[in-house]
Amino acid sequence: MSNDKKIVLSGIRATGNLHLGNYYGALSKFVRMQDDFDCRFFIADLHALTTHPDPKALHENVKHILAEYLAAGLDPEKNILYVQSDVPEISEMYLLMNMHAGIGELMRTASFKDKARKALGISAGPAAGEEEIEKEIIGNQSGKSVNAGLLTYPTLMAVDILIHKADFVPVGKDQEQHLELTRRFGRRFNSFYGTEYFHDPVNFNFGGQPVKVPGLDGSGKMGKSEGNCIYLIDDEKTLRKKVMRAVTDAGPTEPGSTPTEPIANLFTLMELVSEPSTVDFFKKAYADCSIRYGDMKKQLAEDILKVTLPIRERVLEIREDDDYLSRVVRRGAEQARDIAADTLRDVREIMGIRKF
Ligand code: TYM
Repeated sequence: MSNDKKIVLSGIRATGNLHLGNYYGALSKFVRMQDDFDCRFFIADLHALTTHPDPKALHENVKHILAEYLAAGLDPEKNILYVQSDVPEISEMYLLMNMHAGIGELMRTASFKDKARKALGISAGPAAGEEEIEKEIIGNQSGKSVNAGLLTYPTLMAVDILIHKADFVPVGKDQEQHLELTRRFGRRFNSFYGTEYFHDPVNFNFGGQPVKVPGLDGSGKMGKSEGNCIYLIDDEKTLRKKVMRAVTDAGPTEPGSTPTEPIANLFTLMELVSEPSTVDFFKKAYADCSIRYGDMKKQLAEDILKVTLPIRERVLEIREDDDYLSRVVRRGAEQARDIAADTLRDVREIMGIRKF
């Protein structure tokens, strides 16, 4: 890892198995970047705490994601791989950075509004804006609460990134707002203390647009809380069944018509996993109304399995090797702590915290 390489930092929350959204939005990019950049990838277990996981499940989730990182091809010799909570410097800098994060801007973050609405039992819709959430939180009429960790989630994410002074942050489209806040906090810190300490990190997509992997239920993105996921760990039978059950429509009736959302989503998935000639074949069949969705789904399942099955096999093997997993993260934590301690020392100094 030479010094002139650009720094890459990204992580995935430890909330369960990884799905195709995580894979195409993040993990597959990590793997492709590892030879050309100075990469640091971590497992965000502190972020996972914002949604109160079962304490018994949390460690298993961390272990599983680590196994998935390795099984997908991340090489611990080429990357720093670590668990977020193993680097306490992150938690301290999170406290410091919260002094420059505004409650209003945090409340306006889409992911907060979404989670707060769910916690407060407010249904989504145009009326369910910040005001209603704020009224509920402060008025506490319903007796339901939203934990402060959810509100300051973007501060912690900003610190993950800024503590490495990362240049590139490979993430899916849904994380772009958090990345924007990261830049804002970094710039605010710079201007408040009259320094040029932080620079702007940006998403990285090999020159393309950030990815949004759709679910199989006809609308929206693939996500754990949406319950519409294909997991890397799904066995063949489960995976085929999920794909064959994907929502479709009655089929095109006029040549050259625009696909409806569920069908457009199937094409988006196909573009990620299949050969271009396969995608073309089904697009032409759609255009001339000869498409059979059953055939398309069979092909899609086949092509997804080509990606996921080899990873699944390696995950099952690696997950059993506790010694190897702990060696990887112990070394990763040491490396990440060295970097984080340098930044934290500077940040404390800039903010005026000095030792006697
Ligand atoms: P998380 O755990 O929700 O998701 C991990 C990564 O997967 C991407 N992703 C998707 N990409 C495309 N289509 C989808 N349907 C889809 N679903 C998930 C996400 O964009 C993300 O890249 N806040 C982060 C974790 C985090 C982090 C960080 C990331 C904490 N600190 C610092 C980067 C840098 C999160 O919750 O991701």
